Amino acid sequence: MSSERSWLLAGNWKMHHGPAATAAYFNAFLRLTPPHPSRELLLFPPTLALPAAAQASSARSDVAIGVQNLHWESQGAFTGEVSAHMAREAGARWALVGHSERRHLFGESDEETRLKLEAAAEAGLHPVLCVGETIAERRAGEAEAVVRRQLTAALAGGRPSTRLAVAYEPVWAIGTGETATPDDAAQMHRAIAAELRRLLGEARVPVLYGGSVKPDNARELLQRPEIDGVLVGGASLDPASFAEICKAVP
Ligand code: 13P
Repeated sequence: MSSERSWLLAGNWKMHHGPAATAAYFNAFLRLTPPHPSRELLLFPPTLALPAAAQASSARSDVAIGVQNLHWESQGAFTGEVSAHMAREAGARWALVGHSERRHLFGESDEETRLKLEAAAEAGLHPVLCVGETIAERRAGEAEAVVRRQLTAALAGGRPSTRLAVAYEPVWAIGTGETATPDDAAQMHRAIAAELRRLLGEARVPVLYGGSVKPDNARELLQRPEIDGVLVGGASLDPASFAEICKAVP
């Protein structure tokens, strides 16, 4: 089964799995998930587990590791922070920026998201820019305007020199078991694609969906032409469950 299309299947472990659990996870997950011509696999472990993840996946060119967060300065007196260069040295090739937990639990602004995106690209990391509205914003009819604002702010410096992906993650669907319907997700993905064309020109940017993606709803989402992959939280923590999602590529 091969196709012209290619999907990005990403797992964001958030604050789960230390180095030992990471090595065990990859051992199981890579056996369940052989290379496939139309998918790329991205795993975002906690920062401390980046070297273990990079080592465990080093034989697989279809698997890449990313960092969940970074500071925009390359070094300095920023206790507890990690720079993009350090993440890259530890094995990261991708970086999440603007995740809703960073925005809403840690108060990160659109401007800080832009700085992080630019620092990631400058260090050679591929950013996954996360955008999405809260339930209050959706109910107020502002969902598309909020997402457009987040995209415009983060990409004010233009197209990054590295690969870029965008993840649409409606805040109300994250960790709640509620998923956007494939129709609603597809509609927002079309709006995002249009805004990216306006901001960056014609080059195609993959747009992933995230928010309670599970083995039983992944196929329906991935079948949509507007949805280029998924960013999975809770259901990526178990290797068998994430492997099932990866098999859902049409
Ligand atoms: P859940 O899949 O647990 O809803 O989390 C989604 C997410 O935040 C991925 O970045």
